Amino acid sequence: MLKVVVMVSGGGTNLQAVIDGVKNGTITNTEIVGVISNNKNAYALKRAEENGIPNVCVSPKDFATREEFNDKLLEAVDAYSPDLVVLAGFLVVIPPAMIEKYRNRMINIHPSLIPSFCGKGFYGLKVHEAALARGVKVVGATVHFVDEGTDTGPIILQKAVDVQQGDTPEILQRRVMEQAEWIIMPKAIDLIANGRVKVEGNRTIISQE
Ligand code: GAR
Repeated sequence: MLKVVVMVSGGGTNLQAVIDGVKNGTITNTEIVGVISNNKNAYALKRAEENGIPNVCVSPKDFATREEFNDKLLEAVDAYSPDLVVLAGFLVVIPPAMIEKYRNRMINIHPSLIPSFCGKGFYGLKVHEAALARGVKVVGATVHFVDEGTDTGPIILQKAVDVQQGDTPEILQRRVMEQAEWIIMPKAIDLIANGRVKVEGNRTIISQE
């Protein structure tokens, strides 16, 4: 069983997709052992609660320094002894010590086709605003391992989504979630849980069933 900790900041629809995936068998060999949020009001924490998943909030507001927060965040993750850490809309800069400790064992979902519309400042709705402003016709989402850079780690899965005439950032965001994020995030976890993802340099190799 792959023990997974999911880290969230907001609504938690990707967390929900993972919970549903474990329940309906899309994700196999996996147990969600904990949910961590930096935001005590995150609806994602309610989703964890409703599904009987242990959860905790570690907020930077509760600590005098960033270093102290970073230490407590890593402690909270370690406390669940996870095999995999899943960043599902976790909008906090990951402490370097955590990146080092969970190298190739921490994944993130980003709402664009990396390397487009990613890096510093590109998160949430801003990604979709930028895509519409640039006038691209195809967008999408990416699941990747986390390394020291912002959205630079080895890519595991990507899925493209068409932009439609009249899209607003909100409409596009929803379509990218429905048609890409909620599919590739569960799929990536299932692949990892079944030993099918190998990292070679900055790439991954997905083995066939
Ligand atoms: C998702 O669209 C996710 O891709 C994005 O935040 C949203 C969280 O939604 N993440 C980033 O932008 C990371 N750079 P959710 O809380 O409903 O899953």
